[in-house]
Amino acid sequence: MLMAARMVRKGSSVADIGTDHAYLPAYLILNGISPKALACDVRKGPLENAGKTVEHYGIEKEITLRLSDGFDEIEPFEADDFIMCGMGGTLMEQLVSRTYWLKDKRKRIIVQPQSHAEDIRRFFVENGFEILFEDACIDSGKLYCAMAAEYTGEITVKPLSYIYSGELSKCQKKEAKLFLENINSRLKKKLEAEKVHGCAENAEYLEKVTAELEETINGMQTDS
Ligand SMILES: C[S@@+](CC[C@H](N)C(=O)[O-])C[C@H]1O[C@@H](n2cnc3c(N)ncnc32)[C@H](O)[C@@H]1O
Repeated sequence: MLMAARMVRKGSSVADIGTDHAYLPAYLILNGISPKALACDVRKGPLENAGKTVEHYGIEKEITLRLSDGFDEIEPFEADDFIMCGMGGTLMEQLVSRTYWLKDKRKRIIVQPQSHAEDIRRFFVENGFEILFEDACIDSGKLYCAMAAEYTGEITVKPLSYIYSGELSKCQKKEAKLFLENINSRLKKKLEAEKVHGCAENAEYLEKVTAELEETINGMQTDS
């Protein structure tokens, strides 16, 4: 969550989608990073949790609680930076893709996908968003990644493996390298399964992707 918080532009108002306890918006307000925040969730229970956090810190004026499925109940002018942490990348892709007004060069989307990061990266790449930077960390033995993207309107051709590596390949932390090694070993297992039981086309695709990832990983400069 802290990784995502560090990607918020100082002074930006934020909307946290899938906020649960509203820890992220509370952090941004209490640390003077954001002047105001929307804490949104699709379920009432998590919003009640959010309400308790807001009350605990006495930040009712700065944080607005909102019941919302994705971005559906948010007006475009209500925030500059939009955050989604802890959901799967497939759900993130669905929520972002149905929100046309996120295609705005002034807005930033920050995501920390719990799984299938490749789905939200693919969406960004194919729809004119540039992934500005990515970060990775380990928490309780589990690897996480986070990324910030902005709409440019330009679609650039990327290597086949980009949806798996994104800008993590430029991150100099050892956790980024570990993250990519982890992804590549999962893809290699899939490749082996495709070779035995699957289709030749999938195997060919995975062969190329894993070879590219291997090269990317070998070329990474990490700080330790
Ligand atoms: C695993 S929790 C993550 C909470 C917090 N963002 C974090 O990273 O610690 C996922 C939250 O997303 C909410 N959620 C799931 N689908 C959603 C949707 N379509 N729109 C808004 N919130 C959603 C869930 O209710 C839940 O509170």
